[in-house]
Amino acid sequence: KAGSTVSITVVGASGDLARKKIFPALFALFYEDCLPEHFTIFGYARSKMSDEELRNMISETLTCRIDKRENCSDKMDQFLQRCFYHSGQYNSEENFSELDKKLKEKEVGRLPNRLFYLSIPPNIFVDVVRCASHCASSANGWTRVIVEKPFGRDLESSGELTRCLKQHLSEDQIFRIDHYLGKELVENLSVLRFSNLVFEPLWSRNYIRNVQLIFSENFGTEGRGGYFDNYGIIRDIMQNHLLQILALFAMETPVSLDAEDIRNEKVKVLRSMRPLQIDDLIVGQYKGHSAGGKFYPGYTEDPTVPNDSLTPTFAAAALFINNARWDGVPFLMKAGKALHTKGAEIRVQFRHVPGNLYKRNFGTDLDKATNELVLRVQPDEAIYLRINNKVPGLGMRLDRSDLNLLYKTRYPKEIPDAYERLLLDAIEGERRLFIRSDELDAAWALFTPLLKELEERKIAPELYPYGSRGPVGAHYLAAKYNVRWGDLG
Ligand code: BG6
Repeated sequence: KAGSTVSITVVGASGDLARKKIFPALFALFYEDCLPEHFTIFGYARSKMSDEELRNMISETLTCRIDKRENCSDKMDQFLQRCFYHSGQYNSEENFSELDKKLKEKEVGRLPNRLFYLSIPPNIFVDVVRCASHCASSANGWTRVIVEKPFGRDLESSGELTRCLKQHLSEDQIFRIDHYLGKELVENLSVLRFSNLVFEPLWSRNYIRNVQLIFSENFGTEGRGGYFDNYGIIRDIMQNHLLQILALFAMETPVSLDAEDIRNEKVKVLRSMRPLQIDDLIVGQYKGHSAGGKFYPGYTEDPTVPNDSLTPTFAAAALFINNARWDGVPFLMKAGKALHTKGAEIRVQFRHVPGNLYKRNFGTDLDKATNELVLRVQPDEAIYLRINNKVPGLGMRLDRSDLNLLYKTRYPKEIPDAYERLLLDAIEGERRLFIRSDELDAAWALFTPLLKELEERKIAPELYPYGSRGPVGAHYLAAKYNVRWGDLG
């Protein structure tokens, strides 16, 4: 709004996430003229640093999609002039009051709005929020706080965190980020489903046999073992990124595209799910492996991980939704680190065509004729539909082909990073892609009993070699529901 200004404070400014994602995303938004005309950015962290040092850090570690553009450096200079640093303790009201003073100097004569990005470990969230409440926007401007997972370790600790945050903030001020919701293909999921007649009527147990949500990374927890060992892949990826995609995929049609309407439907579908059962779960952990003359160390060989750690770096699970639309349809999730490839996709396998006239052309394996719809979230964003067609020629030979919407050919322009979209939404007060507290509770309720059981029974993960396709157990789990995992690609 004319006459207003936005101050963005990145708390934990020297950390990895801030350097690799938040500052680059803010710069990309600035470059694209998406930031408000009047804005100021503050880095806040414990280390002593001058404004100039912060600026060097931001420009040196710039990893954004803009950094190869021609006039990037001019724009960068303009951007950096608006970046400042304040060093302070995370639990010091006094240090935050000093920050408040500096913010006020920049805001003079304008309606102040303040956004805080907490890019810090969860054990200090509450301290920071308490102290930063001394920095809330005075006057009539807004104050918003973005928090990044992990939001607790289970239902109880997450609830406790919410209660503590709410002593200082209202739900409307808390923006819980799940960066997967900012990914282009995840946003497109609803468009694809709700605006195409050829998909919407098929979106139920009547036509869909199973849905697969797959996340795979071809590197281990290198350098993040300390964090990861306390959480594991189920909390790191499944309970949030994959479950959020599932909720968007499976929710009923919202009343409108309004944030509350969408989030109401997501909560409903999450609450219709059966808490995950231990029999429907496979856990794995990567072990060291030599390939191409190089040794790739196993998870427990990471010096920051205890030697006897049972933390899963891989998990596969079958989930079910107890409602009329999805009764009996397995939603299979698979997430792993140190696997053979990197990628994420949503794969929908449709039922067989009843009384298929061409049955014998598929030999004994009718699964080969299954239509599949794939949304490749990354890399190489694409949506493709596997169909059956005749091979041209005089005989009758059938083949499978892909109707393929490959983003890089259809839209050669670069796709914004998820953090760009989410930061912009937070600045604009759009809550659609942020997690409401009841959504978070529902998500934890699904996973908490299972996580407790895993830890109490000390269930050992199945070992798999670094760079492999993960534990074979994942195939048995899928086979139990008559499903074959699709290959990422
Ligand atoms: C984070 C997880 O939320 O997502 C990381 O904590 C993971 O373990 C990352 O590597 C993956 O994000 P992306 O966008 O690179 O797929």
